[in-house]
Amino acid sequence: MKVSIIGQGYVGLTISLFAADHHDVIGFDKNQTVVDALNQGKSHIEGVESSNLARLVASGRYKATTDASQIADSDVVVIAVPTPLTKDRKPDLAFVEAACQTIGENLKSPALIINESTSFPGTVRNLIKPEIEKFSGGSIQHQYAVSPERVDPGRTDWNQKNTPRLYAGLTPEASKAVREFYSTFCDNLVEVSSPEVAESAKLFENTFRQVNIALVNEFAQIAHALGISVYETLDAAATKPYGFMKFMPSAGVGGHCIPVDPSYLAHTAAGLGVPATFIERANEVNLEMAKYVVDRVKADNGGSLQGKKVQVVGVAYKPNVADVRETPAEPVIEELKHAGASVTWSDDLVSSWMGQASSPLGGSDIAIVVTLHAITDSQAVLASAPYVFDTTGKVKGAHSL
Ligand SMILES: NC(=O)c1ccc[n+]([C@@H]2O[C@H](COP(=O)([O-])OP(=O)(O)OC[C@H]3O[C@@H](n4cnc5c(N)ncnc54)[C@H](O)[C@@H]3O)[C@@H](O)[C@H]2O)c1
Repeated sequence: MKVSIIGQGYVGLTISLFAADHHDVIGFDKNQTVVDALNQGKSHIEGVESSNLARLVASGRYKATTDASQIADSDVVVIAVPTPLTKDRKPDLAFVEAACQTIGENLKSPALIINESTSFPGTVRNLIKPEIEKFSGGSIQHQYAVSPERVDPGRTDWNQKNTPRLYAGLTPEASKAVREFYSTFCDNLVEVSSPEVAESAKLFENTFRQVNIALVNEFAQIAHALGISVYETLDAAATKPYGFMKFMPSAGVGGHCIPVDPSYLAHTAAGLGVPATFIERANEVNLEMAKYVVDRVKADNGGSLQGKKVQVVGVAYKPNVADVRETPAEPVIEELKHAGASVTWSDDLVSSWMGQASSPLGGSDIAIVVTLHAITDSQAVLASAPYVFDTTGKVKGAHSL
């Protein structure tokens, strides 16, 4: 099959390379720099090996392009573009709409169109299909389906091959076609009765994590007030062999999914007149963690951070990736600056961020660990400042949540 994948980021590139072992893949992206690097065999995504990319480029099975006309005769088109929030935390479908325009204007023969971008229920039926038909003039009959992506960048145990994949078509033919496509490189396909179920399941998976992270973040504050270790208490609770799942406290949530997707579900709930109080409160609790962390550091340091040199260690939103989208390091730094501190940051994987370069570890009065990568030496972090506050639970001997 000829497969075109719209968007060559974390999701699009990952799926492109799995597909390229079985199909001819066009990776369409509007970013020329990304496309040029991909065609030179250079991956910009953790977990996507440049050697594998280079092999598939050399074999002719994978090609990146900014030229939309190259998708014209595709059998399958996968949408994998960002679905962020607007400034007022409402779903922003502008990238999906732009992808639909590209598809509508350039796809010249009937194809299977699959959405992998995370969005609210009804997106494939009520937005993607009508948008594509608007730009194609409606003369070509495509099949439409959804298969939400579950990739966890940087993870090696669960991948495209062994992670169960949900799918549903708008029609039985679309469901059959989507199964045939993914079964070429995915072992476990789970059909659900409608695209809305698949879309909602994806949102609920990430909302489950968001709410449980907020719960443990709230519990960390209770445990501290009680004078007990949150980590020891969680370990104790986790000895129960059923009915408990351990989540870890942190400086907040980051990335493109956990802080974002639940707001898509809340948006749907609001439209239906149903309250989404857990989601909204969980979001607040996670956002409040930055202030809580800085308040704790302040309390341990004589009640003021005015003029103190503070280094934030680890600004990626999670360990072992260079992704800084929605990183909790940002509100932590804002809170520190608000408290009058002079702030630097150090990250072994992020070389520059917010117009600033990563600084070498050390040279500050206080270090606050937001993210600890496996390659970062925790004992070097502990030795990097006279006072170290660790939000990860991994720096032994540091002050902690
Ligand atoms: N990153 C994850 O871990 C993850 C996991 C599961 C689901 N998702 C979902 O997958 C979707 C994509 O996320 P991502 O992390 O891959 O995003 P990303 O930012 O890494 O990549 C998106 C790519 O799409 C390109 N792009 C944007 N608009 C385009 C357009 N109109 N035409 C062509 N290319 C365009 C961008 O240049 C970028 O390279 C989102 O809906 C996200 O919620 C992400």
